[in-house]
Amino acid sequence: MRRFCFLWSKQGEQSSTIKKHRKPGIRIVCLLLGVCLLLTGCQGPQKEEEKKSIRIGISLYRGDDTFINNIRNELEEKAKEYEQEHGIKVTLDIQDAKGSQNTQNNQVERFISLGCDVLCINPVDRMDASMIIDKAMTAEVPVVFFNRQPVEEDMNRWDQLYYIGVDAKETAILQGQMVVDLYRKSPEAVDINGDGMVSYVLLEGETSHQDSLIRTEWSIQTLKDGGVPIEKITGGIANWERSQASALMEQWLGAYPDTIELVVSNNDDMALGAIDALERAGTTKVNVIGIDGTTPGIEALENGKLLGTVSANKGIYASAIMELAASCALKEEKPEEYPLVDGTYYWAPQEILIHDLEE
Ligand code: GAL
Repeated sequence: MRRFCFLWSKQGEQSSTIKKHRKPGIRIVCLLLGVCLLLTGCQGPQKEEEKKSIRIGISLYRGDDTFINNIRNELEEKAKEYEQEHGIKVTLDIQDAKGSQNTQNNQVERFISLGCDVLCINPVDRMDASMIIDKAMTAEVPVVFFNRQPVEEDMNRWDQLYYIGVDAKETAILQGQMVVDLYRKSPEAVDINGDGMVSYVLLEGETSHQDSLIRTEWSIQTLKDGGVPIEKITGGIANWERSQASALMEQWLGAYPDTIELVVSNNDDMALGAIDALERAGTTKVNVIGIDGTTPGIEALENGKLLGTVSANKGIYASAIMELAASCALKEEKPEEYPLVDGTYYWAPQEILIHDLEE
């Protein structure tokens, strides 16, 4: 497996009657109280007692999504590392919204009632984050959204809202580029039947996801710009899911036998679904490319079943979520290692991973 790194570097007077009847002892107590008030007043607002523990409420749009699961595992690791490095107890309350915005809204309400210091939300419906934002703003609990980007109008409602993800256009360009590079080096590895044209099918993620359209558009554009002669046979939406992609690919293999040379997939899970269908059909001579660099994706890459993927650096992705969330919870400066674009957005780095055909 070869790696090509590309790092994206892309906030009163007492009433006279009381005075008259006051006993001397009472006067001393009042005087001491007055001195105390004066002293604290002179010091300005009292520094909040140093927090020794933080509670983070995390809601995942779907706990069975492979990429999200990879991020979750990394987050749990990063929380342990944070505890060790900073001597602060970190409690992660992780909930699965199971694809329901309503469930997620209830989870947010519960997180707030449990006293979470910060929320990390992977929204179910990125167009419908307003309820979460309303609840968080009222309770003054900051929110770090990730992976599914709320609309700008929502993000602009409060300065305690953040977003962490990967840049979709960059992902797509890297995905297209790996095929361009391979084609330039050995055209026969891409134009498998040697007819001067690379016939491809396209597997797309959820239509409502900000990344699907961008990934599709720029991946194909990069192939064209890079001089790969491509022709689209067909395409379909498989909502990031392996089984849906597998069913589509099976249909396409039946409808266009011995035609498909390349499968361009918006993520690894759908790419794996296409590979499942290819294996069932006994065909191996088709190149499949994905995005994410998930655990099963990398395994397929190592086995030579997946030609390549664009892997988000999940360690950095999760660290950025953990560090940003902790800084919000502790009311500290934002972490410098994860610079926020416009004070709000952090884009995690990604890299091309490609199977070495010479291996
Ligand atoms: C994408 C990822 C998909 C899926 C989706 C969920 O960024 O590539 O595999 O996890 O997020 O929102």
